[in-house]
Amino acid sequence: MEDWNVICPTQENEEDSCYGIPLLGFVLCLAEVVDLVNRRLFEHHLKVAYLAFRLGEVLGFPEQSLRDLLIGGLLHDIGAFSLLERLDALHFEFRNPHHHAFVGYVLLKDFGPFASLAEVIRCHHLPWEEGRGRTAPLESHVIHFADRVSIVCSFQEDPLGEIREREPFFRSFVPRLFHPEVFEAFRKLLSKDYVWFDLASPRLRHIVHGLVPPGKLCLNVEDFLRFCRVIAHLVDFRSAFTATHSAGVAYTARRLGELTGLPRGEHELIFAAGLLHDLGKIAVPVEILEKPGPLTEKEIRVMKSHAYYTFAALSWIQNLKDVALWASEHHERCNGQGYPFGRTREELLFESRVMAVADVFVALSEDRPYRPALRPQRIREILGDMANLGGLDADVVAMLLDHFDEIHASCREVQEQSVLEYAAFRQETIRFTE
Ligand SMILES: [Fe+2]
Ligand SMILES: [Fe+2]
Ligand SMILES: [Fe+2]
Ligand SMILES: [Fe+2]
Repeated sequence: MEDWNVICPTQENEEDSCYGIPLLGFVLCLAEVVDLVNRRLFEHHLKVAYLAFRLGEVLGFPEQSLRDLLIGGLLHDIGAFSLLERLDALHFEFRNPHHHAFVGYVLLKDFGPFASLAEVIRCHHLPWEEGRGRTAPLESHVIHFADRVSIVCSFQEDPLGEIREREPFFRSFVPRLFHPEVFEAFRKLLSKDYVWFDLASPRLRHIVHGLVPPGKLCLNVEDFLRFCRVIAHLVDFRSAFTATHSAGVAYTARRLGELTGLPRGEHELIFAAGLLHDLGKIAVPVEILEKPGPLTEKEIRVMKSHAYYTFAALSWIQNLKDVALWASEHHERCNGQGYPFGRTREELLFESRVMAVADVFVALSEDRPYRPALRPQRIREILGDMANLGGLDADVVAMLLDHFDEIHASCREVQEQSVLEYAAFRQETIRFTE
């Protein structure tokens, strides 16, 4: 794409700088949002990624495998959609551990840069079973071990004492649950005090971020867009009610961007922002997303937090500052009555106002747990009212209403494609559901 330089400043030192989107930073943000769904999960992915990486170093893993351990550790539980499933996995031995592992695999397997990593995630709860687990990649056994250490140890007051005290407990599961070589690597790490202090450190995020030079893990623009689609599936496929949402918003925002004369270089970027706009919903329990009745006050607050978390996740990523704003301001209103910032029309970027219109339009044309999709005439009326009351940008709404039939029909086509993808996803993962 010729306009990639819009978000990619030229860098001198290839080793230390990233020409595209820094993958590790992006995945770190994603992992943090996934763990925000409950306090008890705080930094779970971060700890697993760090420990798996250190174990991989002791095992002499090559660079590619260490990368898979790091990114795999950060994403290993992304297939656990419900809060119940996430909390279940906090028990040392729990029911049906393979469902979320397989869902994670299905979400990631078609994304080229993550192909080997998807297989690692698929097997991350397979026990060693005296060698019968050798069909799984060794990386999976490493993540499995790091995961179980992370849920047993708190790494708070006395990390060195805690881990040494727990050693006999972990040993008692070798070789039924844990790979003997992984356990041996763990024993070697026991004398490395810094590893356990790192795990207890409030700077763990920065430590993990520094494990790989940024230039080593970079997404070019095509892979960035493909990764955004993976994230959109991760956000949308948590519930049948949202299965087509991000794809619809991305399409509508790009079309409105074209019609309102955004520079060509921004068309794919606003599309990406549409795919990412509800990323923060990963921090909202699926039980709230799917609640059929009205939400309580507290549930509404939790739901609204997603716009902030989209911002928190994306805003500091190098080369993504504008996209982060366009994505996270989709619930802002021109009259200042939106959230999470309460910005006014003058303070909002034009692209953010486009995103807000696209989001409302698509939401109205979708089924919700508490109401069916609205008819085109009703959608027109609501959009018109919101523009008249100063909530939505009147010029953008006028453009949408001028091209309503075309955008409505094309958006439906895009969403029908998403319905098919969602059906295939459900079909593929259903066999692991109890
Ligand atoms: Fe897991
Ligand atoms: Fe886990
Ligand atoms: Fe939203
Ligand atoms: Fe949305």
